[in-house]
Amino acid sequence: MSSASQAPADPLNVPRHVAIIMDGNGRWAKARGLPRIEGHRRGVETVRSVTYAARDLGVKMLTLYAFSAENWNRPKDEVGALMGLLELYLRKELDTFVRDRVRLMTVGRIEGLPRGVQRLLAATVERTREFADYTLVLALNYGSRTEMVDAARAYAAAVGAGREKLNDASWDSFAKYLYTSGMPDPDLVIRTSGETRMSNFLLMQAAYAELYFSPVLWPDFSKADLAAAIADFARRERRYGMTSEQLKPVAAAK
Ligand code: IPE
Ligand code: IPE
Ligand code: MG
Repeated sequence: MSSASQAPADPLNVPRHVAIIMDGNGRWAKARGLPRIEGHRRGVETVRSVTYAARDLGVKMLTLYAFSAENWNRPKDEVGALMGLLELYLRKELDTFVRDRVRLMTVGRIEGLPRGVQRLLAATVERTREFADYTLVLALNYGSRTEMVDAARAYAAAVGAGREKLNDASWDSFAKYLYTSGMPDPDLVIRTSGETRMSNFLLMQAAYAELYFSPVLWPDFSKADLAAAIADFARRERRYGMTSEQLKPVAAAK
């Protein structure tokens, strides 16, 4: 048995950046004989509660995968309803974010979203820019592969303009061109609804993230469920390619 699974949770070992693949709205609705959009509506309520739950638990940055680049392939009605819900959510939250000092940021091809949504996002990002304690990042029209292509294009343009030197290329110099530029990598990635895949989410940024899969459908995901994921994270040992002994030289020598 690995020592990591037996170690007690370290109460101070809270992940700084938690990223969540919010999944299971459709199944939640289906199980109740409701239309899928009702699941999304309930999912928005969970977004609200989890935003504050994460902050209460000591998380500094929360990224929520709200709409993937592939989600445009869903039925037109559902896509339209999701965009409507997003607009409504942003309209309602703007003042709340300002009141509660939540900084809003986005990742994804924002220019591909409806104009109304873009305007609300820009206004909210602008009005919450100064808040340094807690950041909510919405992944919208996000896909890791399009992010890579966009970054490669921007990087190539910078090389062409003489702002970057190809010979100096490194992950750090390239990562400045990702949507996540300036953000810390996620420490913990949670996916709800029992699916165990990444679905094109933060693939490079999660290179060394801890993964946690919860069977709970997103509309039912509670503060206790988030706390359980964080407690599980706190028991793990992140080795980054090294050995356990290297990480705990004193304990190992005993
Ligand atoms: C996640 O719930 C929400 C979005 C992807 C927008 P789903 O709509 O994927 O729910 P399931 O997977 O069909 O249950
Ligand atoms: C991932 O969920 C995208 C979001 C949570 C926004 P999906 O439900 O779209 O993922 P797949 O299609 O099951 O992989
Ligand atoms: Mg799904």
